[in-house]
Amino acid sequence: MAKRIDVSDLNIYYGSFLAVADVSMTIEPRTVTALIGPSGCGKSTFLRTLNRMHEVIPGARAEGKVVMDGVDMYGSDVDPVAVRRHVGMVFQRPNPFPTMSIAENVLAGVRLNNKRISKGDAQDLVEQSLQGANLWNEVKDRLDRPGSGLSGGQQQRLCIARAIAVKPQVLLMDEPCSALDPISTLAIEDLIAELKDDYTIVIVTHNMQQAARVSDRTGFFNIAGTGKPGRLIEIDDTSTIFSSPHEQATEDYISGRFG
Ligand SMILES: Nc1ncnc2c1ncn2[C@@H]1O[C@H](COP(=O)(O)OP(=O)(O)OP(=O)(O)O)[C@@H](O)[C@H]1O
Ligand SMILES: [Mg+2]
Repeated sequence: MAKRIDVSDLNIYYGSFLAVADVSMTIEPRTVTALIGPSGCGKSTFLRTLNRMHEVIPGARAEGKVVMDGVDMYGSDVDPVAVRRHVGMVFQRPNPFPTMSIAENVLAGVRLNNKRISKGDAQDLVEQSLQGANLWNEVKDRLDRPGSGLSGGQQQRLCIARAIAVKPQVLLMDEPCSALDPISTLAIEDLIAELKDDYTIVIVTHNMQQAARVSDRTGFFNIAGTGKPGRLIEIDDTSTIFSSPHEQATEDYISGRFG
């Protein structure tokens, strides 16, 4: 299921503003890739180009290539809605549909895709997705209660269950733990470690310890100043980035001398 993503010469714009310049990187399947860097350097912007969510913002566009297992995701014959089905996303703030039940939240993406699904299959998918998100035991007796009645950490795992219910190949996570307490954060990190057996995962985080704990590869983005575009400074094995990065800017950032 997991896919490899090859990004080459990607320039990302908001109108005439070049927000991220010249990114080339390979994202390996069954691997967690962490993206780090100071605020405003374009991590979220870059992440959203990987599932064509960037272009839903008026005036926003990307130039360059994003190729998933050989298929150009910006090819003229590619349906962006299909791309978003293959590349799921989890956001900074847990965003379950508040009035929907826990079970219906899990099924929301599947329903949006207009898939016909029998009651029995739906129940199986709810259980399987909640198991996958490590939430099943906590909610199995209240599947028909509103998703908004869960704790923040549980809501975030519910959102992960919703994302994996459509069986994506890639999972993008934009600071998924930034609104969570340390226990919930560890639960999500454990989950990420399990999910990488099946998915290609890209996670944006401001937490260096988290990047070091959960990721196999780390990419460092930086920005030269206000109005300048963010750039990928380097990407390498996480152990290399945190012990002996090649670029001084990376060293400065991870050692807290900057940002
Ligand atoms: N919808 C938008 N319209 C115009 N410019 C935007 C939009 N979203 C982001 N930008 C700009 O693009 C640049 C990159 O922003 P982005 O949100 O990708 O940074 P980030 O690295 O995710 O930052 P943070 O760590 O604070 O989340 C910034 O200059 C930002 O102001
Ligand atoms: Mg961001």
